[in-house]
Amino acid sequence: TNRTFTMIKPDAVAAGHIGAILDMITKSGFKIVALKYTALSAEKAGQFYEVHKERPFYQGLVDFMSSGPIVAAILEKDDAIAEFRKLIGATNPADAAEGTIRKKYAKSIGENAVHGSDSDENAEIEGNFFFSAFERF
Ligand code: GTP
Ligand code: MG
Repeated sequence: TNRTFTMIKPDAVAAGHIGAILDMITKSGFKIVALKYTALSAEKAGQFYEVHKERPFYQGLVDFMSSGPIVAAILEKDDAIAEFRKLIGATNPADAAEGTIRKKYAKSIGENAVHGSDSDENAEIEGNFFFSAFERF
């Protein structure tokens, strides 16, 4: 489908990159259909990343994602999932291509500036995690 879900993670929010990242997103042809400045409690972060529960980095990920405010958004573009993952770049900024958001703003594989959904199904689930029907346009 044509929608994906993203978060600007606590590292990029704390570093003052909200505006620059949203600018990259909209200049790349994504339309913002929902947008929220909020924060995840440790419990909510644990729920959001439940699929990674058995991974060694899970607790660190939950601690990091609940360490400060985030920006959550639903984005619209043709082939949104793949197009957005192209724009954000590889999980590890050391492997991220030039011109990607993670190449520019991520500090490490853990603190990597942005999230992007990995499937249509997860984009729907993740968007519903943050936004009610009245908050998307
Ligand atoms: P997201 O868009 O945030 O889901 O990233 P991704 O899809 O590129 O990676 P994945 O879903 O595999 O992992 C989710 C998040 O867990 C990553 O964005 C990282 O913040 C973190 N993470 C993944 N792998 C590692 C790792 O090996 N070490 C550490 N410290 N964190 C990791
Ligand atoms: Mg992922």
